[in-house]
Amino acid sequence: MKIAIMGAMPEEIEPLLSYMNDIKSYELADNRYYEAKYKGIDVVLAYSKIGKVFASLTASVMIQHFKAQKLLFSGVAGAINENLKIGDLIAATKLCQHDLDITAFGHPYGYVPEGKVYIESDKELLFLAKNIAKTKGIDLKEGIIATGDQFIADPKKKEWIKNTFSADALEMEGAAVAVVCDAFDIPFFILRAISDAADMDAGFDFDKFLEKSSKISADFIISMLDEMV
Ligand code: ADE
Repeated sequence: MKIAIMGAMPEEIEPLLSYMNDIKSYELADNRYYEAKYKGIDVVLAYSKIGKVFASLTASVMIQHFKAQKLLFSGVAGAINENLKIGDLIAATKLCQHDLDITAFGHPYGYVPEGKVYIESDKELLFLAKNIAKTKGIDLKEGIIATGDQFIADPKKKEWIKNTFSADALEMEGAAVAVVCDAFDIPFFILRAISDAADMDAGFDFDKFLEKSSKISADFIISMLDEMV
C-alpha cells in the first residue's frame, strides 16, 4: 500500500516530511516529489503549488507515476461556517468547485456535463479520522469544502459561496484533487485547519496562521498514518 500525502504550499508539507524516513527526492513535471517510509508504510509526498490546475497535475502524477493507492491532503482553509475558528480542523464530506460557471447554458453553478457538482470523500477514511479524533479528544469538524482559483477575502463572495453550495470552508485545491481521485477510483481524504475567515482580514490572518494551522493539520494526518500502519 502506497499513500500519497499532498499539500499546496511548502508550509503544508514540511511538517510532514519531518516525520519521514528514507526520503528520496525526484523531479518530475516541474515539481519535486518525495518517496519515503513512515513506520514501514510507503509514502509519496509533494506540495502542488497553489490552485486547481497544479493540484490536479500533482494528484495525477502521484497516482499514475508513483502508484499511490490512497491520497490524503493536508493544508489550511478559510472558514465559512461561523462555528469554525482559526486552528479548527475540518474534514471534507464532499467538495465542489465554486468558480465553475456555465450557468449561461442552464446548468447549475459548479457543474459541467458528464461531471458532478459535489464529489464525495471516501467514507472509510472519514470514519477512521472521526474515530481518531474521538479517541484523542480532538474536535474534528466535517463539512462541505468549496474550491476555486481565488483567494477569498470578501464577505459578499463568501456569503455567495455559502448560499450557493452550503459550503462550510473554502480553499483552492481540494475539489481538483477530488475530481482526479474520483476519476482514478482512488480513496481520498481532504483535511484542512482554518487559517482565516475569508473576510477583510483574511490576507493578514492567512500569513499569521499559515504555519501554525498547517502543523495542526499535518499532526492529524500523522495520527491517521499511525492507524494505517
Ligand atoms: N485558503 C486559506 N484561506 C483561504 C481563503 N481565504 N481563500 C482561498 N483559499 C484559502
